[in-house]
Amino acid sequence: MKTVDLQSEFPQDPDLCYLNHAAVAPWPRRTAEAVSRFAQTNATRGATDYERWLETEQSLRQRLARLINAPSTRTIALQKNTSEGLSAIAWGLDWRPGDKIVITDQEFPSNRIVWESLQVLGVEVVEAGLDTPDPEQTIINALDRETRLLSVSSVQYGTGLTLDLVRLGQACRARGILFCVDAIQSLGALPFDVTQCQADFVVADGHKWMLGPEGVALFYVAEPHLDRLRLHQYGWHMVRERGNYDVKTWNIANDARRFECGSPNMLGIHGLEASLALLEEVGTSRIRTELMTRVTALEERLRQHPQVELITATERSLRSGIITFRHRSLPTPALFKHLRDQQVVCAPRGGGIRFSPHFYTPLDVLDRAVELIPVEA
Ligand SMILES: Cc1ncc(COP(=O)(O)O)c(C=O)c1O
Repeated sequence: MKTVDLQSEFPQDPDLCYLNHAAVAPWPRRTAEAVSRFAQTNATRGATDYERWLETEQSLRQRLARLINAPSTRTIALQKNTSEGLSAIAWGLDWRPGDKIVITDQEFPSNRIVWESLQVLGVEVVEAGLDTPDPEQTIINALDRETRLLSVSSVQYGTGLTLDLVRLGQACRARGILFCVDAIQSLGALPFDVTQCQADFVVADGHKWMLGPEGVALFYVAEPHLDRLRLHQYGWHMVRERGNYDVKTWNIANDARRFECGSPNMLGIHGLEASLALLEEVGTSRIRTELMTRVTALEERLRQHPQVELITATERSLRSGIITFRHRSLPTPALFKHLRDQQVVCAPRGGGIRFSPHFYTPLDVLDRAVELIPVEA
């Protein structure tokens, strides 16, 4: 394994306490350089090197496939964002009135609105409440004979609740229910194995834990479903005859490229490819260990603070990079403003303040951030 110089890779402004990877992550140095190089090449050579760009695009697909342990890149498409991928699934499946979709009551709006948009077809969306001692069992209990699909976030954006996807995947498989995972809050931070959790669909934009730019997302569709999703976007790029502009006949590509209608986001692709190269060099297992060290350290410091009340369910064995808390006497908007003014970059989410470090966050950043939470009301 190559040693990665983390200090050099993350040249962050030392005045900031950046604890907002669950929103938008800072780019690693190599990502910023890859994007600059790409911009420079465009300025001086235009698309002369397009063949090389396609190699970078292919490399990104391979890295994404490895990241989720997908059997091949055939199942990986690049989309603009998570919402686009979820919409392609929602509006690609064949629904009957009376069909049910189960989600949870803590989902980010994208993983609720797309399913609710199907209500015009007579499809019902059922929310399983996660505030229970065994959230996975509560979700499983919500699956019934009418349920066609379960869609959950691997990690809830507000509280950081991490779900046991293997258990949910098994429950779906046993009942013949499709399983869709919005993995944006875990990919790049925690290991993910699509084969083990038996997900039919996985979607995740790259700008959070994967440390990439906004606007390039992983879209995984399990092989058996590739030609099951009805397409709503067509163009030169998603056909088998791609590049042969003279033929008038066309056939839909038989791999996941069928979901990519036109020119790709090459700029974003160059950025995300560089970010994933870094994550691969560090390794998923080390990333998880380092992240857990930081989250545990943060939890300890927050617990010692007399005004802090934790919202995140810290007793669960599955943990994420998110820790959310409230102040006993300061309302969340006031605390958020105070922290922002003190250069602590975080977010008001899940009923409190959400801190989200990544594996490389220096421990003194955690100390400083917690020290800046007012002790007095
Ligand atoms: C769980 C979850 N899903 C989706 C999104 C947004 O997705 P996108 O902007 O990639 O559509 C977010 C952003 O915060 C999120 O937390």
